[in-house]
Amino acid sequence: MSGLSGKRVLLIISGGIAAFKAAELIRLLRRAGCGVTCVLTDNGGQFVTPLTLQALSEAKVYTELFSLTDENEMGHIQLSRAADLLVVAPATANILAKMACGLADDLASTVLLATDKPVLVAPAMNVRMWLHAATRANMATLKGRGVAAIGPNEGAMACNEYGPGRMAEPAEILTAIETALLPSKKLAGRHVIVTSGPTHEPIDPVRYLANRSSGRQGHSIAAALAELGARVTLVSGPVSIPDPAGVTMRRVESAAQMLAACQAALPADAAVFAAAVADWRVANTSEGKIKKQPGTAAPSLELVPNPDILATIAASGPARPRLVVGFAAETDDLMANAQGKLRRKNADWIVANDVSTETGIMGGVENEIHLITAAGVEDWPRMEKQEVARRLAARIAEALSS
Ligand code: CTP
Repeated sequence: MSGLSGKRVLLIISGGIAAFKAAELIRLLRRAGCGVTCVLTDNGGQFVTPLTLQALSEAKVYTELFSLTDENEMGHIQLSRAADLLVVAPATANILAKMACGLADDLASTVLLATDKPVLVAPAMNVRMWLHAATRANMATLKGRGVAAIGPNEGAMACNEYGPGRMAEPAEILTAIETALLPSKKLAGRHVIVTSGPTHEPIDPVRYLANRSSGRQGHSIAAALAELGARVTLVSGPVSIPDPAGVTMRRVESAAQMLAACQAALPADAAVFAAAVADWRVANTSEGKIKKQPGTAAPSLELVPNPDILATIAASGPARPRLVVGFAAETDDLMANAQGKLRRKNADWIVANDVSTETGIMGGVENEIHLITAAGVEDWPRMEKQEVARRLAARIAEALSS
């Protein structure tokens, strides 16, 4: 079974003679078990018909930005959400220019502007257009934003000229898709500890103090690190989401148990503290269920501070992981508080996010983070927690390899 099995590609076909090669690319992707949904531009439709693409991809072909049926069935945001990778093949000089400028005047360019998924382009155009300073600058801009490119190849062209401009062959594009979708095992041999979810601090055998953390961000980070080949110990508080594939689970309830599990998991190359740890635990816990006593005052809870897991691990001397990453979930003074946590807790990086109710981040599927490192602050756009995880895992791999 191919590594592409179960993956989903959104194939954008823009107008160029090479559009006919898209048919072969779809065939290769389908043979590899990869799902393909096509978006055809108006100009692309001059070279290849939606019917051909539909027959080969066995899926609806999208052409219109403002189509009520299409928006009903699958809007432009949904088209990118449902894909693991966007591939533009052929990518004309025009669509590359639109991507570089952020233009969104048809379905293809709108999807490309609205996506937070990785993008691969296979340029195809006349040699002079490819070598033009404008196209050179556009390609440099796109590469700087992380867009991957395959080709163009050099050879005789449909316009009777010779040089670079021919779209890469479908088999080459398939290999580039595999490279983009199947991350190399950059973290092989590394051990990373990740904390995730809330903690539950018992009051009596049936009651506890907790918080709204879903564990989504921490669990996706653990999954993304494991995908890069890391051995991951995921120390999780009580959550209702499934265990990520390929990680060693350590299930805990309280902050004290979470700290003990992290210490037991050392040594590690890196540790990511995404859990929303309760700051206090109840000192006067009751062995039996606390009962209402008619006529007496409500019971008072005596709270004592919990250990700071991040700060304790970051202060563990020679056993300290090389890279310690903390989170700062704030509702006020985000950056000042986050910088303060970086220093106080002796973390190397802080992932700061605004969890005010109106952001919908706590318990939601999206996140908008600011990554604070020794080099400064990076503001990342709002994206799905899984994508934050993927990018963060890639950064951790980079940091550990330097
Ligand atoms: N953290 C931890 N152990 C604790 C409290 C927090 O490991 N007892 C970690 C969190 O996992 C996170 C970072 O510290 O990576 C910051 O957590 P946060 O709850 O934002 O900060 P607090 O230190 O609890 O500060 P405050 O509640 O005052 O904002």
